[in-house]
Amino acid sequence: MLKSHPVQLHSIHPRNFRNLDNIRLEFSSHANFISGLNGQGKTNLLEAVYWLLTLRGKRGNVSECTGKGADGFTLNAQMTWDAIRHRINLKVEGRSKKLLIDESPLKRRRDYLENVLVVDFFPEDLLILIMEPQLRRRFLDLACVQYHLPHEETLRRYRKLREQRNGLLKQNGYVDPKLLDSYDQPMAEAASMVTSARLNLLGLLGERTNEIFREGIGEKYKTALQYITSIEGIPGEAGGGSEFDPLEFSDLYHEELKRTRGRDMEAGLTTTGPHRDDWGMTLDGKAVRAFASRGEVRSAMFALHLARFHVLADRRGIRPVVLIDDVMSELDSSRRVRVLELLPPGQIFLTACDPPPEISAISGNDLAHFNMSKGKAERVS
Ligand SMILES: Nc1ncnc2c1ncn2[C@@H]1O[C@H](COP(=O)(O)OP(=O)(O)OP(=O)(O)O)[C@@H](O)[C@H]1O
Ligand SMILES: [Mg+2]
Repeated sequence: MLKSHPVQLHSIHPRNFRNLDNIRLEFSSHANFISGLNGQGKTNLLEAVYWLLTLRGKRGNVSECTGKGADGFTLNAQMTWDAIRHRINLKVEGRSKKLLIDESPLKRRRDYLENVLVVDFFPEDLLILIMEPQLRRRFLDLACVQYHLPHEETLRRYRKLREQRNGLLKQNGYVDPKLLDSYDQPMAEAASMVTSARLNLLGLLGERTNEIFREGIGEKYKTALQYITSIEGIPGEAGGGSEFDPLEFSDLYHEELKRTRGRDMEAGLTTTGPHRDDWGMTLDGKAVRAFASRGEVRSAMFALHLARFHVLADRRGIRPVVLIDDVMSELDSSRRVRVLELLPPGQIFLTACDPPPEISAISGNDLAHFNMSKGKAERVS
């Protein structure tokens, strides 16, 4: 059993959230399965849960999430963390997000985010291993923040420094070298912190992912996660119990910024650093992108997300809520059974057009089944 407190969503009452029709739903503390035809609001419901647990959106901006004719949306919920039940009210309008916990306004986002955790698997995640590096960097950086919340500040600092340095590099004509110098050290330190966090997390995820992929789902290949960078001296792999120090790569980055300054001035932007790096997964040494079948990509992503669940639960002492949106369909029956059996203890929200015949493979017997139609959900069993 995991040594972690479960986060639990007992009920939700969205207002003006996409097509959800002012519904009030009570959830099971274990598995919640939402079925329904295409376009009825299954993903919207999971997205509302994602908003509640992250205070950010999964897809689209606030106005795209808002129902017709409204200025914003509200999500009311009852939630337990740390064994205490709370009333939550999240009101999002334009750029303003207000969260009331038991009627008291939240002052610091982090005070709330420290208590709740979500592991989400949406269909667009299937593109992470295949499409452009930006998607992979975003996924990994978000996971690094979930692993260690203050990392958000490091990412912000790195982005800000880069934007300021790019601003200098974009000026036509003379750029004061001393001014550029003053950016190199803080940039190199922030870059090193971003990279160490990524490598350390990939190290933890890599071993778990391979275990789940091979032994759990029963796939035949060995998976590995690699870090891909053009900077010599930064390893392509982490793990084996060792951890990189946050400032481990500062000197390397500092040297690199000096070495590439001429190129940066010509390009008008910073051409090396973690914002240009990438990572990938291999099956028996071959890139998933070029080698894996569609079902294997799903298995691989499942394994990675389940690994994320366990790594985060161990680190944070919180059992995350799991959201799985419609990603079972292309798995064959035996893979579906194994994946359902592997779902971790805790609260799970699963969607699919039709309930998979293997649904009883979910361990435990507390399964609530809802059917969604035109933004309304009805509990059917
Ligand atoms: N801001 C909005 N206001 C009202 N309706 C919206 C809004 N955004 C999306 N929708 C509607 O929500 C519906 C899509 O809902 P959702 O993506 O949850 O469907 P789904 O049940 O997951 O379907 P599928 O099985 O195809 O994935 C669409 O009909 C879309 O028009
Ligand atoms: Mg959907």
